[in-house]
Amino acid sequence: MLILGIETSCDETAAALVHDDGRVLCSVVSSQVDLHRPMGGVVPEIASREHLRLILPVIREALSGASVKLGDVDGIAVTRGPGLVGALLVGVQTAKSLAWALGRPVVGVHHLVGHMNAPFLIDGDAEPISHPFVALVASGGHTSLFEVASRDSIRTLGRTRDDAAGEALDKGAKLLGLGYPGGPAIERVASSYDGPPAEPFPRGLRAKRELDFSFSGLKTALADRVRREGDLDDASRAAICRAYEEAIVDSLVTKSLEACRVTGLTRLVVSGGVAANARLRSEMIRRASGRGIDVHVPPARYCTDNAAMIALAGAPALESGRSEAFDLAAAPYLPVPEQIS
Ligand code: KG4
Ligand code: ZN
Repeated sequence: MLILGIETSCDETAAALVHDDGRVLCSVVSSQVDLHRPMGGVVPEIASREHLRLILPVIREALSGASVKLGDVDGIAVTRGPGLVGALLVGVQTAKSLAWALGRPVVGVHHLVGHMNAPFLIDGDAEPISHPFVALVASGGHTSLFEVASRDSIRTLGRTRDDAAGEALDKGAKLLGLGYPGGPAIERVASSYDGPPAEPFPRGLRAKRELDFSFSGLKTALADRVRREGDLDDASRAAICRAYEEAIVDSLVTKSLEACRVTGLTRLVVSGGVAANARLRSEMIRRASGRGIDVHVPPARYCTDNAAMIALAGAPALESGRSEAFDLAAAPYLPVPEQIS
């Protein structure tokens, strides 16, 4: 089955052609980050308009990169939520229109279920893994832990009660005058620091068995420290970045390993934009190896938002003959389904 995936939940306009066995024929992602940078974050209305401008060219580019025609597509999978409602609408309406015009089935996919399918994509350096595993999805909009027992069965183990990890990095960078997006900026400045350790930042919800995350107190602690220290020179800004990054990484690693302990699983998948962070990857691997846990991080292009993971996540429903056709609606607040197909 050849599946066209479409993703427009935030600020990436993406389309991909993927076989239901996970082989990626072509994945195109057009990022709007340069457009939103001057505003210091994603502006929903601008994102929607840009999706509208780009969605058809991006789909055309994916078809031509895969050397297939629209008529070769057997089914369409589109992100229906969660995300920005105006942004989601562009993808959902495009998917429904194409499905109607082609006479092919269309299914809606939960964005986070998409992220959990990233490790099964087959493409060059990507090494597909098998179930079961614990998944940490950490991005600008989400920070959650899941037990992924099989392709059809997912259990939420923990989630952030306030900010997502990426959001804490983006807002932290703004407080430090480092620009948007904040994750790469904080990482760059933190890695330039080689002085003595700075005063550590607090870890939210640090009780041993707690699998939920909290990053808003950390952000407040950063705001207090910036206010207290006044004008920051480069060295003290770098020291603060290092300690701030360490606090976020420590929370993500500690809770992911606790999730493995609670479930008894020995495979851990790390996904979402924050997985691009080198300290997170190295700390996760270092601390997991002592406990016999294998850490798997999909290639960066499949960790961040893309449509290949959405296409594959739609495969079980399409294979079972489902089509949501005109019932399919954008759902900005969508809980993770426990059973997928
Ligand atoms: O998954 P993603 O591309 O988009 C969504 O939010 O859905 O994730 C973007 C987030 C941003 O908050 C960004 O600051 C963060 O991922 N990020 C990073 C790094 N690269 C991107 N965080 C830490 N270190 C990085 N190298
Ligand atoms: Zn995402």
